[in-house]
Amino acid sequence: MKKKLIAGNWKMNGSLAANDALVKALLAGLPAGASDVALCVPSVYLAQLQDLVRGSRIELGAQDVSAHESGAYTGELSGAMLKEFGVRYAIVGHSERRLYHGESDQLVAAKAKSALASGVTPIVCVGETLAEREAGKTEEVVKRQLAAVIHANGHCISEIVVAYEPVWAIGTGKTASPEQAQQVHGVLRTQLKAASAQADRIHILYGGSMNAANAAQLLAQPDIDGGLVGGASLKAQDFLSIIAAAA
Ligand code: 13P
Repeated sequence: MKKKLIAGNWKMNGSLAANDALVKALLAGLPAGASDVALCVPSVYLAQLQDLVRGSRIELGAQDVSAHESGAYTGELSGAMLKEFGVRYAIVGHSERRLYHGESDQLVAAKAKSALASGVTPIVCVGETLAEREAGKTEEVVKRQLAAVIHANGHCISEIVVAYEPVWAIGTGKTASPEQAQQVHGVLRTQLKAASAQADRIHILYGGSMNAANAAQLLAQPDIDGGLVGGASLKAQDFLSIIAAAA
């Protein structure tokens, strides 16, 4: 069985002082290496984090990456730039970027492709809104979002990480039940299998109000290969409990 991956998404949180305290507490409490651990931090803190996690098994992640290699794209960061700061993962297509920055399925697919070309593993987020779930459209939505990424990336698809994040569960304290999450993860696995003979090695993470209390049950599902953790990744004890639950 592959190791689980627990990735924290700090979103737009942190400060030099708070990051230092949080990472030191994580390093002090990190259980033995039964799962992979990553922190996706605001890009301005990558250099700080690179120093803090050096020599540990915590990997670094960014929260976005440009679809372009270089040039006149004010405000954007290329995969090659992230790579210089030791970045292993980049979240792409988080629902907050789809919603607040108008990112389309095609743009998300292009960002995934650009990350892969730079040797950065994209964590591709998919997920339905509450209205879409209530309209019975969950499968249709997540399959459409993932299909764009499969189409743009061909056989490289086995190199990505997928995160199923139901929008209604993000930051709301309402978690998908383990059964609800597994059902969607199963759909995504089937779709990945149709695209790649190596789909079994792809990590499919669950994200949305994952916490110390519900992580073990979610992570016990056959197609849940880890978590993408928002709020609970900002508290050392909570994040450590989730990492322990993945072991
Ligand atoms: P919460 O864990 O705060 O619900 O956020 C989930 C998320 O969006 C991770 O990317």
